[in-house]
Amino acid sequence: MEILFLKFIFIILLLFFFTRFSCETDILTSSTNLTDGRTIVSSDESFELGFFSSGSSAKSRFLGIWYKNIPIQTVVWVANRCNPINDASGVLMVNSTGNLVLLSQSRGVVWASNSKIEAQNPVVQLLDSGNLVLKDSIAGESEILLWQSFDYPADTLLPGMKLGWDLRTGLNRQISAWKSPDDPCPGDLIYGVLPYNNPDTVIWKGSRKYYRTGPWNGIGMSGAPQLKPNPWFTFNLVSNEEEVYYIFYLKNKSAITRLIVNQTTSRGERYLWNDDTRTWTGYNHFPWDDCDTYETCGAYGTCVNTALPPCQCLKGFKLKSQEESSVDWFQGCVRNKPLDCHKGDGFIKVDGLKLPDTAHSWVNKSMNLNECRAKCLENCSCMAYTTLDIKESSGCAIWFDDLIDLKQVQSAGQDLYIRMAASDSGIGLEIQYFMKFCYDSYLCLVFPVLFSVN
Ligand SMILES: *[C@@H]1O[C@H](CO)[C@@H](O)[C@H](O)[C@H]1NC(C)=O
Ligand SMILES: *[C@@H]1O[C@H](CO)[C@@H](O)[C@H](O)[C@H]1NC(C)=O
Ligand SMILES: *[C@@H]1O[C@H](CO)[C@@H](O)[C@H](O)[C@H]1NC(C)=O
Ligand SMILES: *[C@@H]1O[C@H](CO)[C@@H](O)[C@H](O)[C@H]1NC(C)=O
Ligand SMILES: *[C@@H]1O[C@H](CO)[C@@H](O)[C@H](O)[C@H]1NC(C)=O
Ligand SMILES: *[C@@H]1O[C@H](CO)[C@@H](O)[C@H](O)[C@H]1NC(C)=O
Repeated sequence: MEILFLKFIFIILLLFFFTRFSCETDILTSSTNLTDGRTIVSSDESFELGFFSSGSSAKSRFLGIWYKNIPIQTVVWVANRCNPINDASGVLMVNSTGNLVLLSQSRGVVWASNSKIEAQNPVVQLLDSGNLVLKDSIAGESEILLWQSFDYPADTLLPGMKLGWDLRTGLNRQISAWKSPDDPCPGDLIYGVLPYNNPDTVIWKGSRKYYRTGPWNGIGMSGAPQLKPNPWFTFNLVSNEEEVYYIFYLKNKSAITRLIVNQTTSRGERYLWNDDTRTWTGYNHFPWDDCDTYETCGAYGTCVNTALPPCQCLKGFKLKSQEESSVDWFQGCVRNKPLDCHKGDGFIKVDGLKLPDTAHSWVNKSMNLNECRAKCLENCSCMAYTTLDIKESSGCAIWFDDLIDLKQVQSAGQDLYIRMAASDSGIGLEIQYFMKFCYDSYLCLVFPVLFSVN
């Protein structure tokens, strides 16, 4: 009798575990739907996919992914960012042609993945990385990836996610801030990669460049000294014929860190989860100071944050317009002596710089610095050169046309060799300061302050 009872208890327990287990699945197929109120959990329980409401607008339901293993709900991806469902009728399903489709009772299709390939046996899985993948798993063949959430980021870059371009397909992965803490619809702050010859990573405000990190130099970026070796993650910028992307990886799987763009602060921000205080800790952010704002000092001007006023002309340059004490944009600096390309120019070395905008640039990964100099001299519109990879002391980076968005950087700045007329190799220089007062980001007053050192 007792044994029978124990057997009965055992079966109940078994059933309980079995049903629990089948709830906590990481997979969705064409015969299972995900309805509002239920979730899918990655196999190591670090991420969860389901429906959530945002802030005060409890009626608006979004499909998203958040951390399962931390107590503060932190959403890392949203499907229907600008298209909330206004009731609890949301259903995520895999349709017969192998697309992920989000439906609501009143409005039909609210969101869909855009896979172009028809699938025979589509399976959706939430991976331990937080990536939601849609695969075609055909018996006896390898799985084909049809779509993944990592290719369509929201405001968050997670470890292993690529920020940037697949040049073969034209796919450009950028992160864009939530419009407000309650609204996952994209605001106007975007962080992404510019696939120039010498790639740069940039924050845009709308269509305007707002901040550049500067190009990758093998160790970091000259305009982002905050990004440096640390105990939590490694980082890299990969650039080849097929792809250009920024990526970071965890050093220790138990670390939790994420990079976001924040509309409220107009910044990129990295957070680390602190398990002792059970809070997110800000680890670093960018832009860092006023000198980081794109093109603060105009062409051939350099921004020195510790100086007052911060804008200066590079050695051998003077204010472009001497009448700029009126309400005007800062127009930058011009040469004291014009270049004379065919009679032979020289270069002066300026150190500790955030390297200029690389929109008009050229690189060669195998040239040394002497070859680089010769290459630059060859072309009259080449204005500067430097070492491409300072870790290996190799490669050549060249800039054409005006040099813009320069900044003096204490710790991570780089050397730049700037083209000068042969007769003007950096002696007897006038230092010129500019007072710049801005009422907002559009209206600035600039006062030149001139004095001489010789
Ligand atoms: C999934 O949801 C769709 C749309 O509501 C419905 O037509 C379909 O029958 C559901 N499938 C299952 C297996 O529940
Ligand atoms: C599956 O969803 C995609 C995306 O909405 C759509 O283009 C396709 O027609 C759907 N397939 C079927 C069989 O409804
Ligand atoms: C990873 O982090 C955990 C918790 O912080 C720590 O106990 C462990 O020693 C770390 N492992 C390595 C290899 O650093
Ligand atoms: C953005 O910054 C504000 C102000 O510091 C902060 O309260 C908010 O949590 C940040 N947003 C995100 C998504 O971290
Ligand atoms: C890069 O420089 C090397 C060495 O000077 C040269 O052999 C190679 O052709 C250059 N590559 C390009 C793309 O110019
Ligand atoms: C100099 O470089 C520019 C920019 O790459 C290019 O358009 C121009 O043709 C080059 N001039 C010569 C003489 O090579």
